[in-house]
Amino acid sequence: MSGLFITLEGPEGAGKSTNRDYLAERLRSAGKEIVLTREPGGTPLAERIREILLTPSDESMAADTELLLVFAARAQHLHTVIRPALARGAIVLCDRFTDATYAYQGGGRGLSAERIALLESFVQGDLRPDLTLVFDLPVDVGLARAAARGRLDRFEQEHRDFFESVRRTYLQRAAQAPQRYRIIDSSVPLADVQRSLDCLLPELLERCDG
Ligand SMILES: Nc1ncnc2c1ncn2[C@@H]1O[C@H](COP(=O)(O)OP(=O)(O)OP(=O)(O)O)[C@@H](O)[C@H]1O
Ligand SMILES: [Mg+2]
Repeated sequence: MSGLFITLEGPEGAGKSTNRDYLAERLRSAGKEIVLTREPGGTPLAERIREILLTPSDESMAADTELLLVFAARAQHLHTVIRPALARGAIVLCDRFTDATYAYQGGGRGLSAERIALLESFVQGDLRPDLTLVFDLPVDVGLARAAARGRLDRFEQEHRDFFESVRRTYLQRAAQAPQRYRIIDSSVPLADVQRSLDCLLPELLERCDG
């Protein structure tokens, strides 16, 4: 594979989607093919699984069901979008990926990292992101931003401890593999976040060419 696989992570309202679009524009103007995608979802079938995952329901979803649905969507997304894009040398910018599974289904729901790692190997083989940007901010700030957007999805209805655990898991994973992760303070105004991303651009372009 010759492309570059970049994932954007972080809790609700951290600015992943906003900054993914910004980064795409900057990289495109450097002449790269950019594939913008997201999880759960990224293909019509995987987006249907996303609907199941995000829609609040009277029937509570077992944590294992949630985990398997996330990876079912991911298998489809990898097969249909991510692997082909990387094979033709594109830069894939993916809004959430398997770090979100460790953070939400692991940290949030309490499933063991070992179990998640088993499915990660099963579905992804050796494929891991080349670089993961973790947009970090205090839980309350992120939830307030997400709430301002309107109706809350199934995850956004979780309690505060859930999100504290999500945030902690992201930061722990980043600390364990600093070469793969960049933590971006996204509690600051958007223009400042984008300045941090601008500082990362030379490194990204170098990785594409290297
Ligand atoms: N640095 C910032 N300062 C203030 N507001 C911001 C900042 N970054 C993003 N926002 C706003 O916060 C809201 C959430 O941003 P965005 O949708 O990009 O977050 P997200 O991480 O994709 O959230 P989700 O996990 O819910 O998809 C948007 O309304 C966005 O305009
Ligand atoms: Mg988003």
